[in-house]
Amino acid sequence: CGIVGYIGDKQAQEVIIGGLRKLEYRGYDSAGIAVLTEQGLLVDKAKGRLAVLEGKLAAQPLAGNAGIGHTRWATHGKPSDENSHPHTDSSHKFAVVHNGIIENFLPIKEELIAKGYAFTSETDTEVIAHLLADLYDGDIVSTARKAVQRMRGAYALGIMTEHEPDKLVAVRLASPLIVGIGEGESFIGSDIPALLEHTRDVYILNEGEMAVLTREGVQLMDAQSGEKIERDVFHVDWDLVQAEKGGYDSFMLKEIYEQPQAVRDTMGARIDQEKKQVILPELNMSDAELAAYDRLYIVACGTSMHAGLVGKDVLEKWTRVPVEVAVASEFRYRDPIYTDKTLMIVISQSGETADTLAALREAKKSGVRVLAITNVVGSSVAREADEVIFTWAGPEVAVASTKAYTSQVIALYLFALYFAQVKGTLAAAEIAEVVEHLQELPAKIGAILANVEPIRQFAQSIQDATSLFFIGRGLDYAVSLEGSLKLKEISYIHSEAYAAGELKHGTLALIEENVPVVALATQPDIYEKMVSNIVEVKARGAHVLGFALEGDRDLAKSVDGVIHVPATTPMLTPILTVIPLQLLAYYTSAARGLDVDKPRNLAKSVTVE
Ligand code: G6P
Repeated sequence: CGIVGYIGDKQAQEVIIGGLRKLEYRGYDSAGIAVLTEQGLLVDKAKGRLAVLEGKLAAQPLAGNAGIGHTRWATHGKPSDENSHPHTDSSHKFAVVHNGIIENFLPIKEELIAKGYAFTSETDTEVIAHLLADLYDGDIVSTARKAVQRMRGAYALGIMTEHEPDKLVAVRLASPLIVGIGEGESFIGSDIPALLEHTRDVYILNEGEMAVLTREGVQLMDAQSGEKIERDVFHVDWDLVQAEKGGYDSFMLKEIYEQPQAVRDTMGARIDQEKKQVILPELNMSDAELAAYDRLYIVACGTSMHAGLVGKDVLEKWTRVPVEVAVASEFRYRDPIYTDKTLMIVISQSGETADTLAALREAKKSGVRVLAITNVVGSSVAREADEVIFTWAGPEVAVASTKAYTSQVIALYLFALYFAQVKGTLAAAEIAEVVEHLQELPAKIGAILANVEPIRQFAQSIQDATSLFFIGRGLDYAVSLEGSLKLKEISYIHSEAYAAGELKHGTLALIEENVPVVALATQPDIYEKMVSNIVEVKARGAHVLGFALEGDRDLAKSVDGVIHVPATTPMLTPILTVIPLQLLAYYTSAARGLDVDKPRNLAKSVTVE
């Protein structure tokens, strides 16, 4: 979900809707706004995309200079007008927008119902509005603190009341929240792009912190104790255009095309040009400390976890240290085996994924050092990890992650090379060779992006398929998983990735006449095995699109079509093979006329469990 709040002298509705537009990727099953007008606190909300609300507001604007707004991704209660935020109390004097979950909302709700409060929605959020009304002592700040003390869970709140028209209150417990400081105006936002049009000066709230906003400025305080907090203003130097679509028809396509730059930026100053070595000046630990680790966990969700799978193979190959990759929602409830030589790597584009953050905290509680690979400066993961490698990919808006994935994989290569350097498991010459290959990747990605027609054609040929398979071995299998996820999330075609050698243990039964199969064959040491697997599916009638390295003349004989990617050293091929797979997903979704950037039921940033 996304939250925006405004108090100043502009029309709050305009500022808030503009901010919500930037946040829509966080959730978009409904949207709403509350504004303090001459007629009092008025609310408008609607199920569906933000545009639906905008239509209503165009017909009947809410005039006023203070307000809060919300885009929702349902957790408690189905998407509907009633369940949309903001929620108000029965007297319509208090309005609340909320991101996250109030875990103990039921007992509070029962208590309030017993006291005579009437509820109109199924949400946990409405409880907060009634609770504020019930606890109100003439001061919204102390009332909000009392309410927060009763609520358990992970949330961020924006609060306003007609009783105190010159104030907004923002509270952060777990879910991300920032406040912006302007001239005679102040802002609340779930993240920076929401506010960037108006201010570049922000405070990033920490957990358990609260902000009181007036036109004159912002006061931070501890939500429990009420103690005031002084903090340096964080000045944002991002470009707003970076967060907009540029000339592309979707954020996803734009972000796919940003990959040469994103990958270059991730490598950035981390390569010593002369020595052809990796430098990671951001690491706090010494080389000796790093070299001592003999076991790694990589924990992440979704696409970030798939980046981790590539990282595992690479780390094991180059450092000979065993690596286990786990999905965060599983890992956090396991009883992992830690030693004092265990290092945990968490990967998260947003740095706010609830499960990943929880796994990080579990590990830290057990005394394990955590290294984070993340794209968002100031995110929870970045702030809580012991070590951070930022991917510097720039803001990613499309729900289906593309440039974040490739930059995560690059960050993992850099870390693996550095680790191998300090452990001495690779010779300087071997490292220099990989570094040279790394530096050629941006141009090679560019070459793939300059010739997308064959992929677009294949996408058209599969747009009516009901089921699709991706097969590969080794690193090709890791990339197949990502290609399959990409396709299913935005084209809604059922798709599965299989380790090619495992086909004969079940999946082969599903291969029949014209079932599309995408087969990756870029790994030289297992190339022939892979070709045999391709022949097996061909023999059952599959329609096969093969992926091979430039110069390969053989694969074409066994498949229906081949996409060649530029040759590189085998460990680096995932960066190149994933690009046409992203394009395949994109063109298939576009051919089916779907909303590429906002697939149904999914959200960019999953800040609830
Ligand atoms: C959501 C997004 C995915 C992403 C995953 C992990 O499911 O839709 O694209 O890979 O979360 O997000 P993170 O921000 O932690 O990388």
